[in-house]
Amino acid sequence: MNQPSQHELPSYLNPNELGPWGIYLEQVERVTPYLGKLGKWVETLKRPKRILTVDVPVELDNGTIAHFEGYRVQHNLSRGPGKGGVRYHQDVTLSEVMALSAWMSVKCAAVNVPFGGAKGGIRIDPRQYSERELERVTRRYITEIGMIIGPDKDIPAPDVNTNAQTMAWMVDTYSMNTGQLSTGVVTGKPLSLGGSLGRVEATGRGVFTVGVEAAKDAGLDLQGARVIVQGCGNVGGIAAKLFHEAGAKVIALQDHTATLYQDQGLDIPTILSQYHPKDGLAAHTQAGECLQADEFWALDCDILIPAALENQITAANADKIRAKIVIEGANGPTTPEADDILTQNGITVVPDVIANAGGVTVSYFEWAQNFSSYFWEEALINERLGRMMRDAYHATAAVAKTHNVTLRTAAFISACTRILEARDLRGLYP
Ligand SMILES: NC(=O)c1ccc[n+]([C@@H]2O[C@H](COP(=O)([O-])OP(=O)(O)OC[C@H]3O[C@@H](n4cnc5c(N)ncnc54)[C@H](O)[C@@H]3O)[C@@H](O)[C@H]2O)c1
Repeated sequence: MNQPSQHELPSYLNPNELGPWGIYLEQVERVTPYLGKLGKWVETLKRPKRILTVDVPVELDNGTIAHFEGYRVQHNLSRGPGKGGVRYHQDVTLSEVMALSAWMSVKCAAVNVPFGGAKGGIRIDPRQYSERELERVTRRYITEIGMIIGPDKDIPAPDVNTNAQTMAWMVDTYSMNTGQLSTGVVTGKPLSLGGSLGRVEATGRGVFTVGVEAAKDAGLDLQGARVIVQGCGNVGGIAAKLFHEAGAKVIALQDHTATLYQDQGLDIPTILSQYHPKDGLAAHTQAGECLQADEFWALDCDILIPAALENQITAANADKIRAKIVIEGANGPTTPEADDILTQNGITVVPDVIANAGGVTVSYFEWAQNFSSYFWEEALINERLGRMMRDAYHATAAVAKTHNVTLRTAAFISACTRILEARDLRGLYP
């Protein structure tokens, strides 16, 4: 009988079109030589533990029935329950949800929070549906995946096009189905339903915290440092505010509507206090000079923070970048080719799995507070967040130095080592 190849792809993937899962597999290949004896378990990283595909049928407001495709993928649960957001987007694919779940495994292990990696998604364009329809979609989806989620099993959170209200519906649905209020089944909840202080600011605060450490390592004084930020939302807006407060000059800010530039530094507090996502920065053109979108990347600066979308720094613009440090606020903003170009040009990249892990870290705090029903003060949350982010950055920098690799490879080495150590200690069941 033929033995199946160790590296054979699962039958549910198209080998000619691996999508984001293919990028993740490449990253695992890069890290494998550094795993030593744990390398014998590496195949575990290349196969999600559990994939659930569900049909989500709902009655629309006009009385017709619509069906949506939903997923929940649990990539690895060796270190703790699954953790990862649920996105609502018409282009969600299984490959994407698989890759995002794997990156959550890596992120949770890289910052050493006791979670595995998971992710969910529904193929729906939420702009086409009413609030009531989206509520019905959410409730049916949570009921369909109910058997594999729970405060001890897998804890969803908001992601693209889902928010605190979506999480409140999820809590209610899960609690009605199980017969008891379970606030710990999701994180990113409203404060009045077991949410945590500091969660809204957490990701931007984490970006700032690792930025301070990376600047110290690069011998860069933050006072007067020139910072440019792509994205003016939850992550980019908060990061810009904190760098401004620390004495840096945020000389450029870009969103989907405009790119604003001011050589002496933009008035960030004023811009943010009047910013409305719908109108965007295009409503603030008096605050600075308006540049073409692609001029943003070539600006003379010390720190560049991509905090908007994936695939923004590519082979086409990476060579123009003049920053000393790139701090990835967004998930996957740098393509692998661009990453190599930045490294060749001596630019330090603090990878997303460390830089934007502030959100999942405070989600961990939210979950822990839900278990004890004892809520912490914001100052304590920020102090603990700061400590965990600094520790994660320095541990990663030390691995990078030992192996003479980038911070991204170092973060993958630390994370995959932690995941596979847990796997090795637990052994194979049965
Ligand atoms: N919010 C979190 O806690 C969190 C945690 C981890 C990672 N992230 C990642 O950070 C990124 C941003 O998330 P967010 O929560 O700040 O989202 P958000 O929706 O609050 O803000 C997104 C920003 O990106 C801008 N943008 C959109 N398209 C753009 C374009 N083509 N060019 C320039 N700017 C554009 C928007 O104008 C907006 O200012 C995403 O990649 C997200 O996955 C967020």
